Amino acid sequence: MARDEEMKRIFREGWCNESVVSHRVTRFIDGEFGFGPSRLAWREALRQAASSCEGRRALDMGTGPGTIAQIWAELGYQVTGVDFSPTMLTAARAVAMRQKLAIQLVEADVERPPFPAAAFDLVSSRAVLFTLPHPGYAVARWVQLLRPGGLLVLIGENAPTEQERIERQYRPAAGWRPSEEYLAALEQLPLREHTDSVARVVMEAAGLESIRTIPMRAVTEARREHETLEPEYGVLQGTPYILVGRRPSAG
Ligand SMILES: C[S@@+](CC[C@H](N)C(=O)[O-])C[C@H]1O[C@@H](n2cnc3c(N)ncnc32)[C@H](O)[C@@H]1O
Repeated sequence: MARDEEMKRIFREGWCNESVVSHRVTRFIDGEFGFGPSRLAWREALRQAASSCEGRRALDMGTGPGTIAQIWAELGYQVTGVDFSPTMLTAARAVAMRQKLAIQLVEADVERPPFPAAAFDLVSSRAVLFTLPHPGYAVARWVQLLRPGGLLVLIGENAPTEQERIERQYRPAAGWRPSEEYLAALEQLPLREHTDSVARVVMEAAGLESIRTIPMRAVTEARREHETLEPEYGVLQGTPYILVGRRPSAG
């Protein structure tokens, strides 16, 4: 437990770093998700992911600057975004205000979410499992937050294969330089490569049913277009994925 708390402190400090936050705003909010065709493509992919959702209460775990929370709000959901980094939440608040979107933002640990069971119709998370000490436990908790029949939407990025690196002339996005302490803690995490197949296994283990993937061709095509127009933002990182699973109905 002491080790757990120490790991949490290191990651929280890392995600509070001003340059990490501004990197994510530049790279995603003003970059990929600020580019019209990409935003439309992501919105359509998330609309499809939630097409069988029977309610409007959405929760985005590890929301960062609110990247996915903002799209749920655009799609008409009442959204709550959770993050343990107050710096990220300040950025999320500023972006939501700029975009005139109503999003409730809560500072909390996504491994200990402070919500009652069955309080949401949809829970999402993008690019967060890889940075959690207990991702399987976290997903099991998130499923408890869904009402029976509610949807869990996991979003991530498969790293490019060697072949894709060559074909796409892959350049990793310029980012931040984590501290030695952060890098050492990262080494101890279980899901450093958070691929769609790993996310699917975690979802199955959490008891979700009807797990399906959402087609991402429009998102990847918009990325290519963006990269041609704005090479500094349109950096192809890998292949994005969205997986959706349903909490079994009671009885
Ligand atoms: C890679 S960023 C992704 C942000 C956002 N989901 C997006 O798609 O842009 C990971 C986010 O997870 C948050 N995070 C990491 N571990 C967390 C934890 N245990 N509890 C709450 N938030 C956490 C970080 O602060 C950061 O904002």
